[in-house]
Amino acid sequence: MAVDVLLGLQWGDEGKGKIVDVLSAGYDLIARFQGGPNAGHTLEFDGKKFVLNTIPSGIFFENTMNLIGNGVVIDPITLKKEIDKLKDAGHDLLAKKNLVIAKKAHLILPTHQLLDAASEKKMGDGKIGSTLKGIGPTYMDKTGRNGLRVGDTAMPDFKERYQKLVDKHVSMLTALYGEVADFSEREQAFFEAVELINKFQLVDSEHFVNDYLKQGKKVLAEGAQGTMLDIDFGSYPFVTSSNTTTAGACTGLGVAPNKIGEVIGIFKAYCTRVGSGPFPTELDNETGEELRRIGHEFGATTGRPRRTGWIDLPALKYAIMLNGVTQMVMTKADVLSGFDKIYACTHYTYLGQQIDYMPYDICCVEAKPVLKEIEGWNEDLTGITELSQIPAKLQWYIDYLEKELGVPIKYLSVGPDRKQTLVLH
Ligand code: GDP
Ligand code: IMO
Ligand code: MG
Repeated sequence: MAVDVLLGLQWGDEGKGKIVDVLSAGYDLIARFQGGPNAGHTLEFDGKKFVLNTIPSGIFFENTMNLIGNGVVIDPITLKKEIDKLKDAGHDLLAKKNLVIAKKAHLILPTHQLLDAASEKKMGDGKIGSTLKGIGPTYMDKTGRNGLRVGDTAMPDFKERYQKLVDKHVSMLTALYGEVADFSEREQAFFEAVELINKFQLVDSEHFVNDYLKQGKKVLAEGAQGTMLDIDFGSYPFVTSSNTTTAGACTGLGVAPNKIGEVIGIFKAYCTRVGSGPFPTELDNETGEELRRIGHEFGATTGRPRRTGWIDLPALKYAIMLNGVTQMVMTKADVLSGFDKIYACTHYTYLGQQIDYMPYDICCVEAKPVLKEIEGWNEDLTGITELSQIPAKLQWYIDYLEKELGVPIKYLSVGPDRKQTLVLH
């Protein structure tokens, strides 16, 4: 058995949560492999809506286990909030025993968030536009070999190690930024949340996942963020601090590369980005606002308005190459229904030449999109359930994208609800 991977091909918020939920019934285990509560994965079914930050999107299926992998960074306070909220909605994860947490996952401390905020403030206009969840500083401590891991919380010297790291953070905040906000309340909440986390089964994710595979069970790795936010290959420095690509699933769970099966790449029928950084197809105009309004493009985690633009084929081709995508999902096709004409970026004009790849210096040299005009379908898609109901012009768009990108679009999403999903192949 192999691990299938589902991940975003753009700048995040492609609809990963919805599609993982749709696919969950067919998997025994859903495993988050990177990122942290910077993610906001939205699921809708039976008239209910849930936003998950740290918990995998398979949590609503009776027979599906969920793992927060070693590559994830966990803010215990946010995780507790998620767990409590789900319990209030009738999903008691402790009772159901359908969530396990990797001992090797790193912990986000209250002071990591202070460092994130102070660093962003100091950068002024050059800021990353981080979600302020402490992601960058936590991964810095991980690679700097200072971090605290979930498994450490059960050790007798946990409090001393915590204090040592906090003291270091306080010194950094004082020396670099000259201020340390009061975090005593969050500190108390942190330790309360750690207690709750310790009631869950804590595992070695590498053994946990490989045992599932040995038993012939099906595993889906759930990505967070998107390929263009990958720490190595995204629009650096305007990226997140983890590998959001397929390779991240190997290191973020402890799975060998030859155990990766299908790679399901998900993209919106257009494009969005939240936070700073280059976005070649951005529509900084009324059309962009229209896309934001119709697509409800506001961050699931921070509520910030998302920047919007047309689909970017060079960026998608790059993402497909990096991830080894074998099948794709197109979401939010319904949002384009109100547009007479839509556009796809086929190339960039960069330093006077036409190119079809992401240039290294995209953060400082303009890559102007070359746009192809496409007829819109102008029909409401949100109620369609049969392939025969797909408007001819939308079918043309699907065929065009499959031909350009060289990968089949297996699923088409036409609304936020679990049911608003069509299998195309
Ligand atoms: P994720 O981070 O990739 O899981 O995506 P988000 O949940 O942050 O953002 C996707 C948003 O689009 C959520 O509000 C979803 O409920 C919604 N959504 C997902 N698929 C569709 C779709 O096909 N059509 C529409 N209109 N909304 C969708
Ligand atoms: P999901 O999983 C969209 C963006 C932030 C910022 C940059 C760095 O819901 O798709 P960070 O807090 O990670 O240091 O911020 O990355 N970002 C996301 N954008 N969706 C996400 O997650 C994101 N997670 C981080 O806006 O530009
Ligand atoms: Mg999101």
